[in-house]
Amino acid sequence: MTEAETRPNVARMYDYYLGGCHNFAADRAAAEEILKIFPDTGVAAQTNRAFLRRAVRWAAEQGIRQFLDVGAGLPTQGNVHEVVRAVAPDARVVYVDHDEVAVAYARRLLPTDGRTVVLRGDLRRPDEMLADPLLRATVDLAEPVALLLVAVLHFVPDADDPWAAVARLRDATAPGSVLAVSHLTLDGAPPLPARAGTAVYRRSSAPLMPRTHAEVARFLDGYDVVEPGLVRLADWRPDGEPRAAVSHGYGGVGVRR
Ligand SMILES: C[S@@+](CC[C@H](N)C(=O)[O-])C[C@H]1O[C@@H](n2cnc3c(N)ncnc32)[C@H](O)[C@@H]1O
Repeated sequence: MTEAETRPNVARMYDYYLGGCHNFAADRAAAEEILKIFPDTGVAAQTNRAFLRRAVRWAAEQGIRQFLDVGAGLPTQGNVHEVVRAVAPDARVVYVDHDEVAVAYARRLLPTDGRTVVLRGDLRRPDEMLADPLLRATVDLAEPVALLLVAVLHFVPDADDPWAAVARLRDATAPGSVLAVSHLTLDGAPPLPARAGTAVYRRSSAPLMPRTHAEVARFLDGYDVVEPGLVRLADWRPDGEPRAAVSHGYGGVGVRR
C-alpha cells in the first residue's frame, strides 16, 4: 500500500462521514475515532453540504455564472455544478483541490463538458492557482465569480496565513463577486473532546485548525456580509432541510465591494 492509502486523508474521512465509498481502511479507522468523540459528525458534515448548496443556489440566483470551488473534495451527492445548473445551465464551475486522490476521483466522476473542470491547486498558493491555464480558460476574472471556501480553511494553519491567501483571491476577483465560507469552530464545545478530536487529525494528511467567530469573520474582510451574517451553518437561510442538533461550524456569505 502507498503512503496515500495508509495515512488517514481528510478528504476521504469526510467522504466516509457523508456515507461515501471512496475511502480506505486507514481513513475509516480515523473517522470512526472521531465519531466516537463527536457522534454527530456525520450529521454535521451533511449540515455543511446543505449550507454549501444553499449558498451556491443563492449566488446563482443573484446572477453569478462562474464558480470557483477551492478544497472541493470528492464528488458526492448535490455537487456544486448540479446545484448551479438547476438555476443557470450555462454556468461554469472550476473544482480545485490540492489532494491528488480527490482530484483523480473528481476527474473520473464529473462531467467533461468544458463547463465543469477539475484542477489541482493549493489555497496556500493563490497566485499559482489563479495562473492555471485551465482556470483562465474557464473563468473570466473580470466578471463576478463565486469563490467557495467551504470546510477547507480549517486545514490551513495560521503559520500559512490563510487570511492573506483569501485576501489575494478577493483582490483578484471583480467587484460583485461572492465569497461563501464555512469553517469548523470549537466555540462552545467541551475542551477535552475537542483536544482528542484535533489529536486524531494531527495524524492525518492535514491538521485541523478550528477557529473562533472573530477569526472566521476576518476571512470576509472587504465583503458586504449578507443576512443573517456569519452564523452557525444550520442557521444560514435554512430552507427546511434536516438540521443537525449541533453544528460545529460557522457559515457566511459576502459580496465583494
Ligand atoms: C472537508 S473537505 C470539504 C469538501 C467540500 N468543500 C465540502 O465542504 O463538502 C476539505 C477538502 O479541502 C482540501 N484541502 C485541504 N487543504 C487544502 C489546500 N491547502 N488547498 C486546496 N485544498 C485543500 C482537502 O483535500 C479536502 O478535499
